[in-house]
Amino acid sequence: MTEITAPAKKKIIFSGIQPSGILTLGNYIGALRNWVKLQDDPEYDCIYCVVDLHALTVRQNPAELRRRCVETLALFIACGLDPEKNIMYCQSHVSGHSELGWLLGCFTYMGELQRMTQFKDKSAKHADNINAGLFTYPVLMAADILLYGTDLVPIGADQKQHLEIARDIALRFNNIYGDVFTVPEAYMGKAGARIMSITDPTRKMSKSDEPNSYIAILDKPEDIRRKLKRAVTDSDGIIRYDRENKPGVSNLLDILAAITGEDTDALVARFEGKGYGVLKDEVAEAVIAELAPVQERYYKILADKPFLEKVMQQNAERAGKMAFKMMSKVHKKLGLAPYKL
Ligand code: TYM
Repeated sequence: MTEITAPAKKKIIFSGIQPSGILTLGNYIGALRNWVKLQDDPEYDCIYCVVDLHALTVRQNPAELRRRCVETLALFIACGLDPEKNIMYCQSHVSGHSELGWLLGCFTYMGELQRMTQFKDKSAKHADNINAGLFTYPVLMAADILLYGTDLVPIGADQKQHLEIARDIALRFNNIYGDVFTVPEAYMGKAGARIMSITDPTRKMSKSDEPNSYIAILDKPEDIRRKLKRAVTDSDGIIRYDRENKPGVSNLLDILAAITGEDTDALVARFEGKGYGVLKDEVAEAVIAELAPVQERYYKILADKPFLEKVMQQNAERAGKMAFKMMSKVHKKLGLAPYKL
């Protein structure tokens, strides 16, 4: 007689992007492209979230924020994420994120949050609005991740510190209440976990900086060519991979390596004796070719509002059901009174 075994429980992948600006090549290479690759792994169920609550830590124009949430979701799909295979939704549509955020805040220390480099950077940048949300941001991010029993979190290198605090909070909670949360691991691609600004390659490429410093996923080919032609390099004229001493050239090599799948050493050998102009042109053409199909799909999807609305609603319901299960478990563990006695 053959033994019937229950199907193995799939592992969970969770990640998010803030709808706080135009998404960049950094977001694409560091996060979105890896999300698309992971959706085909039968071992995982993937949840991808437009983290609109996180965006509120910086003042937003309400109409713009509303529009950007829908646009970000459309971009997820345009990048190749299948709404049937993955759960994709807006964070504010699932109340469990904020609720768990509060509860986990009671298990997070001020000192831990004070050490976060993103808090230090953002409070320097927005000195007129250093709000408590900016400070407790990593707690909400931990809630996002822990709410679904997440195993793996595909992120760029800048989010690593936030993931570590999520792990610490999970372990601390589990030590007191038993095995409640899965302790998540970071997933970073081999190349491109940290794409730098093209006007100041010592800084991360960021959607909140000035437009010439980043390539937007939706930039037109002529803008991509223009921006990359002006990309800051150095004056020694040799194409070599050296992040510390040649950050501009190394960043261009990283971008090309991430897109073509070639190794940076192989690229350096291929470009031997050639000038920076040749490298910049090749990076521009590779980026344009990579983004062209995404852009084409994006405008079609964005025009189909009923479809996007359906994706947003149905997926929020699916995520909401999963979140409710975890919240019930956490309430019980913490000793919060049940609604029905
Ligand atoms: P956000 O919106 O700044 O960025 C979204 C994703 O893009 C990656 N990324 C980059 N990767 C490589 N090079 C770059 N220049 C670059 N810029 C951005 C980020 O690492 C990130 O993976 N706090 C998060 C959003 C968030 C989240 C979460 C992520 C909220 N809750 C839970 C994962 C899990 C953020 O601000 O990402």
